[in-house]
Amino acid sequence: MSHRDLEIDTTSCVHVDSGTLRNEQPYDVVHLNSAHIPPILKLQEIVESSLPDSQKTFIFPKTRSFFQTHFEKTNPVIGVISNGTLIAQSIIRYPTAERPDTGMGEMRPVDTPNKVSVIQGMLVHPDARGQKIAHTMTKSWIDLVKQADRTHLLAKATADNSSSWAVFLDSGMHIVSMEADPRDKSAVYNMHTNVEQITHNFNQLTGLESPDKIIPMQDIHSIESALGDGLIGHAWDRNGGKPLVHFSHGDKFALPSTELRAEEKSSLNFFKLARG
Ligand SMILES: CC(C)(COP(=O)(O)OP(=O)(O)OC[C@H]1O[C@@H](n2cnc3c(N)ncnc32)[C@H](O)[C@@H]1OP(=O)(O)O)[C@@H](O)C(=O)NCCC(=O)NCCS
Repeated sequence: MSHRDLEIDTTSCVHVDSGTLRNEQPYDVVHLNSAHIPPILKLQEIVESSLPDSQKTFIFPKTRSFFQTHFEKTNPVIGVISNGTLIAQSIIRYPTAERPDTGMGEMRPVDTPNKVSVIQGMLVHPDARGQKIAHTMTKSWIDLVKQADRTHLLAKATADNSSSWAVFLDSGMHIVSMEADPRDKSAVYNMHTNVEQITHNFNQLTGLESPDKIIPMQDIHSIESALGDGLIGHAWDRNGGKPLVHFSHGDKFALPSTELRAEEKSSLNFFKLARG
């Protein structure tokens, strides 16, 4: 995995977490900055070229100027560094009233831009996969969003990309709607949750014992129809390598307090809108 173009000087980074890889090397989770754009672009290039043609749309490669603007607007990029080398990254977006684009395509807004955060461009070096690094980055993102006093977590994942949506489901997000990728018309899940739900209700949300429907991940038509009927994808089952997605009615996802705050009401409204 040692690649000179992926080397990172971490002296200017904010350190947020650490762990140990399978090869017993330690890793650090940090916030990258504009000085790190060259290694960020290099990791993106390595991951993109490692994907077979049928999976190229798993990612939406970003340009140098995207990252320059991203950092100028004080949006973070979470990076994972091991042995001085960048092995994983995730782009975190904080839309604002002036810059409201969430990058969520046709998904209906869940709240005002300054209440949401979006994770994009999650990439793990091919040599470092399957070690929960994506889970670790998602956890760091959720911690950041709480600190930023934002309410809604949003992400997109190609329906064929189980390594991606499995991480978001494991982290307490839900599949709430789907749309077609404009590049190849493949199905893409819109994923959402409310920070409050994760904090108070995580086990209930992911671990409902009797989901209303269990659908094989390849059965896109049944998944589309379940979402149209107001069901939400909230968990998954490995099923010996043929993953199943668990769906239940949005009503089961009651918030802990009966006194809903405005942003929570807005989240529930979104589920109703998503049905229609
Ligand atoms: C998606 C990606 C970021 C995941 O990174 P990772 O660090 O390997 O992910 P993690 O180890 O945290 O979790 C992956 C999990 O996916 C699940 N999973 C994915 N596909 C699976 C499958 N076919 N069968 C069973 N489990 C699967 C498992 O829970 C697995 O963890 P586990 O096997 O250790 O229990 C990485 O594969 C990657 O960079 N892919 C290419 C780029 C990409 O698709 N990015 C996503 C953009 S949204």
